[in-house]
Formats: sequence, C-alpha cells, structure tokens
Amino acid sequence: MRGKRILLVIGGGIAAFKALDLIRRLRERGASVTPVLTRAAEEFVTPLSVSALAANKVYRDLFDLTDEAEMGHIQLSRSADLIVVAPATADLLARMAQGRADDLASTLLLATDTRVLVAPAMNVRMWNHPATQRNLAVLRGDGVLFTGPNEGDMACGEYGPGRMSEPLEIVAAVEAAFAAGPLAGRHVLVTSGPTHEPIDPVRYIANRSSGAQGTALARALLALGARVTFVTGPATVPPPEGAHVVRVETASQMLAAVQAALPADAAVFAAAVADWHVANASESKMKKQAGNAPALEFAENPDILATISKGPQRPALVVGFAAETDDVIAHATAKLARKGCDWIVANDVSPATGIMGGTENAVTIIRQDGSDTWPRMTKDLVARRLAEEIAKTL
Ligand code: CTP
Repeated sequence: MRGKRILLVIGGGIAAFKALDLIRRLRERGASVTPVLTRAAEEFVTPLSVSALAANKVYRDLFDLTDEAEMGHIQLSRSADLIVVAPATADLLARMAQGRADDLASTLLLATDTRVLVAPAMNVRMWNHPATQRNLAVLRGDGVLFTGPNEGDMACGEYGPGRMSEPLEIVAAVEAAFAAGPLAGRHVLVTSGPTHEPIDPVRYIANRSSGAQGTALARALLALGARVTFVTGPATVPPPEGAHVVRVETASQMLAAVQAALPADAAVFAAAVADWHVANASESKMKKQAGNAPALEFAENPDILATISKGPQRPALVVGFAAETDDVIAHATAKLARKGCDWIVANDVSPATGIMGGTENAVTIIRQDGSDTWPRMTKDLVARRLAEEIAKTL
C-alpha cells in the first residue's frame, strides 16, 4: 500500500467516527489519504479532526472556488489509485447507483475512472429494503467493490446486517484491491450465457447454457487483477462481482455490446449464441388457430467471435469455445480456422457428459500449433487454468 493515493469519501452516518481510525490505519501502512466529507458527515465528524489525522486538506464543497483553483473536481476524482467510501449510507449508495452529481462526493464518484471500494453502514431495515438491494446490484454490475456490512448490534438498538466493516477489515479490502495480479491493468472481455431470440413478445428460442463457465472464467480473470467487461445473455447463475456487467438478450445485442466494450487486451467468447433468429417474429402475441401451426422463418445471426476476430479492433488474444456433441476435435479445429481466433476451448456437451448446465467440464485447448487435453475437472478449475494461460500469453 506504500505510496498509494486513496481518496476517502466519508458519508453521514454514525459509523463516520470509525473513518478517523481508518485514516490512521491507512497512513500507518504508507498510503496517503485525501478526505472528502459530505454535508451530512460534518454532523458526525469535524473537518478539523479529519484534516489533522489525514495531514491533508479536506474537500467539502462542489462550488468552492479555492478548491477548484487548486485542483478541479475531475482531476481530484482521477488523481487517486483507489476511492474508498466509508461509511456509505443508503442515500449515498442510491445516488451512486443513479449516477447523481448533486454534491462533491457524488460528482467525484461519477467523474472517476478509478476503482471504488464501498463500506456500507445503515440500519438493518434500510439495508434489507428492496430499493437498497436493487442499488447494490446496480453498483456491483458497475464493478464497484464492497466490504461488509457486518452483522451485529447497531447504534439504533436493532440487530442484523448494517454495521460498517471495522477499519482493519476495510484496510484488508484495500490491500486486496491493490494486490496486483499478472493481469493488472489488462482489460478482458468475456461473453457468457445463452441468447434469447424472440418469436413474439412473450415467446423466445433459447438454449440450455447456464452461464456457469463464462462466469467462473470472469471471476478467475478478476482474481488475477484484470478489468473485466462481462457481456451476458439471460444466464441462470448470477454475474461475477467486480466485473462491469452488460446484460443483453439477443445475439445482435450481444455483438453491439461487445463492439462498444472494445478495445480489450483479450476477449473470451464463452456465450452459447443462437445461430439464428426468427425472421418473421411477431410484434404482438401470436394467437392459436385450430389446425394451423405457425411456420417460423429463420435468418442467420451475426457470428460475434468471427466478426471480432476479423475486425479492425481485434484484441491481441481471441478465445472461442466449441460445444460439440460428436467429432469434437475435428469440428473444433475447423472452427478455429473458420472463425480466425487464436484458441478454441473445445468440449463435448452430449447429454451423457452432464457438462451443459453441470458443474464440471472436460476441455481440449486447440491452438494454431497444437492442442492440450485437460482432465475432467470443475468449471472453476478450468476457469482458473484458462485465466493463467491467458495471463502467460498476454
Ligand atoms: N459464437 C459467436 N456468435 C455466434 C455463434 C457462436 O460469437 N453467432 C461463438 C461462441 O461464443 C463460441 C464459438 O463461437 O465461442 C463457437 O460457437 P458454436 O455455437 O459452437 O459454433 P457455431 O459457429 O455455431 O458452429 P456450429 O453451430 O456449426 O457448431
């Protein structure tokens, strides 16, 4: 942590007093702390004590001309290695989730491209409220990191989750955020899950992909320090925490989301993309007509992997998957050439293997210059080995 610059946003909750100790702990470890106080935080801790402990100026007001002359708020938000929000109140989380910029703290959080670690603190009912849980899901999807809250007695007399993490727990989360893995500073794009191709507004064509392998892979890449954009169809497993999650339904939407996320250092296409969409999909719900079953017409979907492999913004490493039910290696090798990617991760998804929708996978990695067959193992382990291979190659 030595030499790291931390922008500490202190929100207005009773736990703000713990932020004073947090400043000390961070500084003891060699980090510098620039504090930002919300208006409400000043009701709980004084700017003078915060400034004295941080040995730094305290930023408080969006429209302070002196501050703006010294360092504009945009620059302030980007001059840190990590932004820590502690305590993060329900209100501050809601404003972050909405992208509001109505005070200095929320403006900094909106203007930044630095990673953000949040330590929530609030009453247990506020924490459990669907609105707060919705905001958390949005923020997790945006790649925000969280520590806590802990369960225990609360200042308001209730018991449950809502207590802010202790300063040393927050310090540990800061250390974890800084732990530079071999993929630190790298951007990796992962597609995952099935696509849904509409027949009409209520019906669609889908496949059995759960998104488990793509999600495990994204987690493994995050663990090695990569910045991950996770473009996912409607999967059954929840998306990985810490990734930037982009949700799509159809193959066309997935292609557009992937193109919008480029450039990337590597892209892994683990999604089970539908090969076709219904060309004559109906705008309104199709009604049953006795003795007259509708005829669906299909049109080909864009091949996302091939488009990106052969496109102008091709990442240095492009990895595809090949889910096959017969002649696995032969089909996968043909796919490598046809799609123009660097590796194909081939697997046998015939029903007898239990791989599609299951927790294990048995894969062969096919490269231009040869192939490796890995023993059957959990999808998590396949993901970790694959992430390590990617790290070695980049
Ligand atoms: N893929 C893609 N876009 C598509 C179809 C597939 O990006 N429209 C990607 C998948 O994410 C996977 C790879 O291509 O990484 C292979 O997918 P697969 O469905 O096995 O290949 P297909 O090209 O559909 O070949 P086939 O249907 O003949 O097996």
